[in-house]
Amino acid sequence: MRVTVLGLGYVGAVAAAALAHDGHDVLGVDIDRGKVERFRRGEVPFHEPGLDELVREGVSRGILRFAETGDVGPGDLGELVFVAVGTPSQPSGAADLSQVEAAMEWLTGLVQGANGMWGDAGDRPVVVMKSTVPPGTGRRLQERYLAAHGIAYVSNPEFLREGSAVHDWFHPDRVVIGSESEEAAARVRALYEGYGAPIVVTHTTTAEMIKYGANAFLATKISFINELANMCDRVGADVEVVARGIGLDPRIGPDFLRAGLGYGGSCFPKDVRALDHLALVYDYPFELLRAVIAVNSRQRLLPLFALRREFGSLAGVPVAVLGLSFKPNTDDIREAPALDLIPLLLQEGAEVRAADPRAAVRARAVLPGAVRVTDSALEAVQGARALVLCTEWEEFRRLDWEDVAACMDEPRFVFDGRNALDRERLEALGFRYQGVGRGRPVGARLGVPAAAKP
Ligand code: UDX
Repeated sequence: MRVTVLGLGYVGAVAAAALAHDGHDVLGVDIDRGKVERFRRGEVPFHEPGLDELVREGVSRGILRFAETGDVGPGDLGELVFVAVGTPSQPSGAADLSQVEAAMEWLTGLVQGANGMWGDAGDRPVVVMKSTVPPGTGRRLQERYLAAHGIAYVSNPEFLREGSAVHDWFHPDRVVIGSESEEAAARVRALYEGYGAPIVVTHTTTAEMIKYGANAFLATKISFINELANMCDRVGADVEVVARGIGLDPRIGPDFLRAGLGYGGSCFPKDVRALDHLALVYDYPFELLRAVIAVNSRQRLLPLFALRREFGSLAGVPVAVLGLSFKPNTDDIREAPALDLIPLLLQEGAEVRAADPRAAVRARAVLPGAVRVTDSALEAVQGARALVLCTEWEEFRRLDWEDVAACMDEPRFVFDGRNALDRERLEALGFRYQGVGRGRPVGARLGVPAAAKP
């Protein structure tokens, strides 16, 4: 099929390259000429494992092309037009749909200018919404923009995880298709038949709610295990064993039970806030969701509280922060815990240096100038008295921790924000280790006045 993909972020670029890999004739479109030029050269302007190869394959086969929005004519549009533009949070938490609406204007402008190129509605392009939009949006977009032009609308939410998006595209747990047009739904369904995954076909609003429900539930699981971890720290239990113990129940499952600094990224925070705002607009007090958000906001401050307990004042304390991306295997720093934590450490006088295997360049652009973003973890820990692990990069797990101990100064305090390090090994090397919910906090017991240091 001929497919257009509008918006070359990590969802759109993966969709374009994967559909080309499946043999479709794909045109990737973006408003950013520089980004289009890079894709034309087979370059991907962000880190997503496996995507470079997929793009280069499609470009070399001549079935993956790229164009800037202004250079696309009606005749260039495919039978399916995927919309994969950003829907960031507004200050209120509501999803900002301005890019989606601009996409609708762009598309209907092309259709209007088509001078009857398409015969009946059956030949017209179908809009396939990949962007995450609040339940009810699709119906409104159809009424406001598309119905008058005989353009059908399909909600086809993505469930890709950054860092494994290419794998996730070809191995979906399920495909969700929502539309009021059976023909349009069937056209989209045909793309995924060969993937072997269950295909849920429903109405637009229901499909949109599936996407929000999935992300909100996963975020709830994370905030739940983090609350349990905070209790473990108070009662002396180990949340890693608790997570294993409860996760063996198939009704719970082992995934998304990793305690730590909480969720970040471009999806969970914005989708959970958008659902909370939608509840507000529909006058429903979604209490559980509000608690998920509140727990997550506090969780990323745990290293600050621990450092205060360890050092009293942070003035002049050299602190190394390892991990600036919101999770491993991506250079995406959106809503990364480190980006909230570091300004607070600086505010209390700490001397902060930071490192990340992939996200250093992006982070340098947004971090305060007082932070020294180093080229390596060992450089960051040189002379540090404390270390905070914010992202569980394999490179950090595999560090030579004897070298780290030699580089650091007393008391060699380590806050393992992702329970990713080997506590016993670090303690044997003389580190003062604290994880999240590991049950034996260093020094004072949490929740009670700090006891005299042993
Ligand atoms: C998520 C959803 O998984 C994906 O289906 C959706 O399409 C987009 O949002 P992503 O945000 O890329 O994907 O990352 P994910 O791997 O889901 O992790 C999200 C956040 O939760 C990360 O900050 C991660 O550190 C955190 N997390 C994840 C935990 O804190 N504990 C866990 O057990 C799992």
